Amino acid sequence: MSENRPAAVIILAAGEGTRLKSKTPKVLHPIGGRSLVSHAIHAARGTSPEHLVVVVRHKRELVAPHVAEVDPAALIADQDEVKGTGRAVECGLQVLPPDLTGTVLVTYGDVPLLETTTLREMTAAHEASGNAVTVITSVLEDPSGYGRVVRDTDGQVLRIVEQKDAQRARDEGGEDAGALDIKEINSGIYAFDAQVLRDCLSRVGTDNAQGEKYLTDVLGLARAAGRPVRAHVVEDRWQSEGVNDRTQLADLGRILNERLVRRWMLEGVTVVDPATTWIDADVTIGRDTVIRPGTQLLGATTIGEDAVIGPDTTLTSVEVGDGASVVRTQAELAVIGPKATVGPFSYLRPGTELGAGGKIGGFVETKNAVIGEGAKVPHLTYAGDATIKEGANIGAGTIFANYDGVDKHHTTIGRHSFVGSDTVLIAPVNVADGAYVAAGSALTGDVEPGQIAVSRARQRNVDGWVARKRAGTKTAAAAEAAAAEAAASGATSAGDGTEATGTDEAGARHTHSQDEGSQA
Ligand code: UD1
Ligand code: CA
Repeated sequence: MSENRPAAVIILAAGEGTRLKSKTPKVLHPIGGRSLVSHAIHAARGTSPEHLVVVVRHKRELVAPHVAEVDPAALIADQDEVKGTGRAVECGLQVLPPDLTGTVLVTYGDVPLLETTTLREMTAAHEASGNAVTVITSVLEDPSGYGRVVRDTDGQVLRIVEQKDAQRARDEGGEDAGALDIKEINSGIYAFDAQVLRDCLSRVGTDNAQGEKYLTDVLGLARAAGRPVRAHVVEDRWQSEGVNDRTQLADLGRILNERLVRRWMLEGVTVVDPATTWIDADVTIGRDTVIRPGTQLLGATTIGEDAVIGPDTTLTSVEVGDGASVVRTQAELAVIGPKATVGPFSYLRPGTELGAGGKIGGFVETKNAVIGEGAKVPHLTYAGDATIKEGANIGAGTIFANYDGVDKHHTTIGRHSFVGSDTVLIAPVNVADGAYVAAGSALTGDVEPGQIAVSRARQRNVDGWVARKRAGTKTAAAAEAAAAEAAASGATSAGDGTEATGTDEAGARHTHSQDEGSQA
């Protein structure tokens, strides 16, 4: 084989995984944003095999479509009711050419941390030594539950003894009575010569403590036929660790995350607190970006260079441009442009696209909102089904009322237009380029370029109301004192009593002195 490209990889994923106590099949549980079987497929695919087979049985209707989605080129093999890893591999071979030669790798769908490099190293060692079988082993402090590796005096592997068969041998006295004391365990990951695998599997029976067809028996049979069987010891035990229950799911998820975070730090990303930073396997991050504590970068998120993310931020499949700042934010399926700023306390829902240098500020929620370059939505706003063009400014407390109870409607705010605070834009509404909307408006009609729209009730002040209706209160006393003070200083009137709260206020006041704010 050139460059140790295996003829096939067979991934075993037919088992039930009862200890997870889950409706979802074990191999579909995710860590690091990928299912367990997806991790196994990625590691296997990395070796560039001619064929990649996944053996399924339990909840096939869920597992098989998932495999096809992760890797459309993968072959699906169905295991029948005969149990055991040996039978699973036999079923895997049935979907491959019957005269296949070369190296066949076997891995498990529930061993997510196994790396392509390890498979490549095993394959290279296997082919260089001319082995019939090579098995990845580890030496464990507590080997209970695993198959034990029995070696002969020259170090070659004689056979593998399963835990239950070793117990039986100890109780009943047999050749493998001492096997339980062996600390070298079978990881379940192998390289086989295709011919040897086929021949030996056809001779494997089910006469053992579990009544299953053991793949491990192939090693003993190959050895008995005088073929070389060797172990490839892997120090990093996590790579061969499988998931059997939810505690292991969490442990392996944490180890995977530690590895991914470390990898990004070595690529030039500053991670302030690796322990509270979670990065999924498919995420990419540019150099000199700083990830602050409590940040989760999930799904297909991509972060540019020189960005600052966090603290306390969760991004799911979000694209963040160079130099952007995203603080205390929850975002999903959104695009944040270069040098844009988001947060704190912002919620970006799918379809949000913030242009370069734009801003989404505190307590702002957006959905299907395309916000142009340099446009700002700084405070307390809901922008749904909106186009906010470049340089526009949306005042505090603006609501894009996009839903009429039945249908969703769109609102457009033109280039460099200005929406005053506390405005309701009752969609569909179109504010042209270079237009203003007065603060406090409830807008139902379009606004043309250069216009200001004012859509609110005119202010009416009633003199002496406090004294008549709230006599004896602190408010009445304050009013009396203010009036006395004004009289003493010779001032005339207390004015209309309102404070300007938006830049549009001047325009709005000017308008209502002439006519009522119109309800379009
Ligand atoms: C197997 C090995 C054992 C090794 C251990 C490592 C055998 C007989 N024993 O034991 O030496 O130390 O793995 O974890 O091989 N599977 C199928 N079809 C089946 C049975 C299993 O596809 O009929 C798949 C499972 O989904 C799983 C893998 O094979 O991904 C291993 O099965 P499991 O039952 O966990 O094997 P063990 O008994 O733990
Ligand atoms: Ca297992």
